Amino acid sequence: MGKGYYVSTKVAICLGLAVIVIIVAVGLLAGLLPEKDQCDHKCDITTRAPIKSSTFEASTKPFPSTTTSEPSTPTPSQASYSYRLPPNVVPVHYNLELKPILDPETEGNYTFSGNVEILMNCEINTSTLFIHSHNLQYDDQISLFNAEGKELRITPKNDAKQQYLILELDDGNMESGESYTFKANFSGNLANDLSGFYRSEYVEDGKPKVMATSQMEPADARKAFPCFDEPEMKATFNVTLIHKCERVPLSNMPVSSSISITNDGWCATKFEQTPKMSTYLMAFIVSDFTFIEDNSTFLVRVFARKSEIKAGRAARALRVAKEVLDYFGTLFDFPYSLPKSDQIGIPDFAAGAMENWGLVTYRETALLYDKNESSESNKERVVSVIAHELTHQWFGDLVTIEWWSELWLNEGFATYFSYLGTNAVEPGWNFLQGFILDDFQRALLADSYSSSRPLSAPHESIVTPADMSSVFDDISYSKGGSILRMMNDILGNETFIKGLRTYVKELKYNNTNVHYLLGHLQEAVTDDVVKLPATVEEIFSNWTQQMGYPCVSINKSGIISQSHFLMNPTSNVTRISPHEYIWTIPIRWISSSTDETQTHWLRDKYNNMTIPQSDSWILLNAGAVGFYRVQYDDDLFSNLLTQLQLNHSVIPLENRAQLIDDTFNLATAGLMKIEDALDTTIYLVDESEYVPWQTAINNLGYINLMFSMSMSYGNLQTYMKKQIRKIYDDYHNFAVIPESHFDQYMQVSALSTACTYDIRECRTEAQKLFASMKNGSRENQIKANLRYIVYCNAIAAGGQAEWEFALEMYKKSSFSMEKAKILSALSCSKEPWILSRLLNYTLDESIIRKQDATKAIISVANNVVGQSLAWSFLKDQWNYIFQQYGIGAFSFSNLISGVTQRFSTSSELEELQDFKVNTPDFGSGTAAMDRAIEQTTTNIKWRKDNEERINIWLQDHIK
Ligand code: BES
Ligand code: ZN
Repeated sequence: MGKGYYVSTKVAICLGLAVIVIIVAVGLLAGLLPEKDQCDHKCDITTRAPIKSSTFEASTKPFPSTTTSEPSTPTPSQASYSYRLPPNVVPVHYNLELKPILDPETEGNYTFSGNVEILMNCEINTSTLFIHSHNLQYDDQISLFNAEGKELRITPKNDAKQQYLILELDDGNMESGESYTFKANFSGNLANDLSGFYRSEYVEDGKPKVMATSQMEPADARKAFPCFDEPEMKATFNVTLIHKCERVPLSNMPVSSSISITNDGWCATKFEQTPKMSTYLMAFIVSDFTFIEDNSTFLVRVFARKSEIKAGRAARALRVAKEVLDYFGTLFDFPYSLPKSDQIGIPDFAAGAMENWGLVTYRETALLYDKNESSESNKERVVSVIAHELTHQWFGDLVTIEWWSELWLNEGFATYFSYLGTNAVEPGWNFLQGFILDDFQRALLADSYSSSRPLSAPHESIVTPADMSSVFDDISYSKGGSILRMMNDILGNETFIKGLRTYVKELKYNNTNVHYLLGHLQEAVTDDVVKLPATVEEIFSNWTQQMGYPCVSINKSGIISQSHFLMNPTSNVTRISPHEYIWTIPIRWISSSTDETQTHWLRDKYNNMTIPQSDSWILLNAGAVGFYRVQYDDDLFSNLLTQLQLNHSVIPLENRAQLIDDTFNLATAGLMKIEDALDTTIYLVDESEYVPWQTAINNLGYINLMFSMSMSYGNLQTYMKKQIRKIYDDYHNFAVIPESHFDQYMQVSALSTACTYDIRECRTEAQKLFASMKNGSRENQIKANLRYIVYCNAIAAGGQAEWEFALEMYKKSSFSMEKAKILSALSCSKEPWILSRLLNYTLDESIIRKQDATKAIISVANNVVGQSLAWSFLKDQWNYIFQQYGIGAFSFSNLISGVTQRFSTSSELEELQDFKVNTPDFGSGTAAMDRAIEQTTTNIKWRKDNEERINIWLQDHIK
């Protein structure tokens, strides 16, 4: 670069005018006025009213009352703008055209080309324009025009590391208050890398098919087109896709026109102008897909491969999407903002799903449901993922975070409201119970390490794309959701929803931070409805600004105290908290004589609570809504245990689960005895509910993990067989599926536990069913809920023949949910050489799709025989794996934690530390690596403190 980027002044003026004419023509209400009329005066498209100005208008923001949040962009005085954009110039409107080349004649050389015009406003004088651009090539057509259409002389530069295209003005400055237009032609690789504008491949009717699709969040829009790739830099977009006429082009908005542009079959499809939105929500797809639709209130469609649509697998998603959109429109008192909502299942997709405004993309397993081939949990996944992504259409798309450091305002909302949305669509499931298991306990676990982080991080702590990926973690999702659930509980439904409604109305088409949220909730509080001990901001800032959470201790005289709960109490907390690790804690409690829940606030280190002395038990954190753990003194604890064993049903289901989870974790932290924790599992012989049972299975699973290579394993196995026996007997018949949602889950857990701990009939039955499938010619007779258990146990018990058969099934099956079950089961083999083969297949995309590779490696590591193989594999293939997955969001941190989770010896710790020292970069897995080291340290200590005592306890309880 360097030469040839400017043209003569005369040409420039003509060009400039032409550019502006085009921008206006494209940008305006599809040419209602002749171009000439538009350009008779100063052509400033910044001032034109966007389409549907009444709905798309951005509002001014009245909050926050406390603006303690830092500016999200660096101040202009800062000399270097590493990765971030300076605030000097902001985008207003994009005209964007993209042309993916998908045709067979490219012979595998897939590319795309495009051109963009960005209308920008200058807010602070500058002689340098920074625009994000990553792996894009430019021809000599990069240019900058002022509002009069005069081309400015520039020298463009590329900063590959920080992903900038930098335009240095040769003469003078861009002036504050003026508008400018940037224009460029560019091209890029249409790679199969699952990010930016990329390609996905599949086979249809025996023929290979290629499609173009996109995944921008958090920082890959810049791989598809040069742009201001930060969430606060909202603008409107006019998108045009150039494609072969027989293909189906899709983008965020409905098609406004489509014309044939060549005589060899190319078409240009223009889409309506978007509202003001962030780049990370843009989507572009060109495919051979087809769709089903519901147009009863507005257009909702589900797109998928033709064969999937034909098989009827999109029907459920369509019904759910439509119902969820209606439900949220009413709940948030703000109807869905775009003219259409498309959902589309993509064969190659890195995450689970992505909330692109108006065009939500899904992994096929998260969208396409088959009533005979899908399990109950597949069914739940489809509903809850749709509800999650559609929550984002309000919380994320309409109201967007200022910066990634507060990602929880997107993902925490989507987590929490996915439960409410799912519950609205499937009221019979009692779905809200599941929050405890899937998010609350997960968050408490993740947040109990000294390497955790606060929900709202300082803006400047998130800078690089890998930093951005790293906040897609259990803190943003599960703690974010848990804190919102606690807010909802403290404020009550009416106040909570009232606050959210004004929040959405005020901030629509705009950006937010936590202070806006708390300000709106405060406004909604009316004293006669909610009694609070402090302002909403005071109560909640200590949950959002400091990492971790308290453990609340209580003794029988009612003295309560709080302290920061740490899984490893000797670990060093280096992070300083503005609240000194003290929380304002709402303590909801019940006791044997009170029917009604009482509330007590603990705001300091200690205080006193009056508890009825004559009651046989008292229980804190009723409903398990408060984000803390509870430690009882010996007397109070044994009262609860007695009650559990006498009649557990008087203790709410959530609390039965939470008693188990708290006690096990407190024992790991050395705050209770491991024997106490094990005691909470005695009553399970009489428990029939899934949520407490699964909590126990998860916690005992940790013992299993730690014992799996130790001589204590046998006693654990005998105890588990004894505890699960009754529920196994109730559900042992593989041909009979219970009615209710969670009973179905209970059956799956009971059978899988029974088979894992070797109740012999369970394994025999699994092998029998697998054999009859293998030997029979009929279609699969095994109930979808139980297929994984059958496949896994048969493969574990079998040899090469069983494994090869399953591998063939995997290759032959075209249904994503079935393939996923088989792939997980392939890792159940007990043969190291077979597991090595499976690991090697993760490097071969023709066998295991890249999107599934990390999960396959983790599954091998979950198998006790495969653990060390998977760890060696990760190290041996590090360069390849890092290059493929190293900056991606979940997969990489999951991989690191998954492969190391069983580490519990000092030699393993040393290996891990060596690996850390000798590896230059962990990308988005940096935090996961630190956490793995902390986890291994905890595991070592845990084994030392507990193994023998557990063994003695088990011996006493298996007689
Ligand atoms: N916004 C995310 C998708 C995403 C994740 C983009 C990470 C970039 C990096 C989306 O809303 C999401 O959270 N998807 C989840 C599924 C959800 C049901 C928890 C996912 O992909 O796992
Ligand atoms: Zn999400």
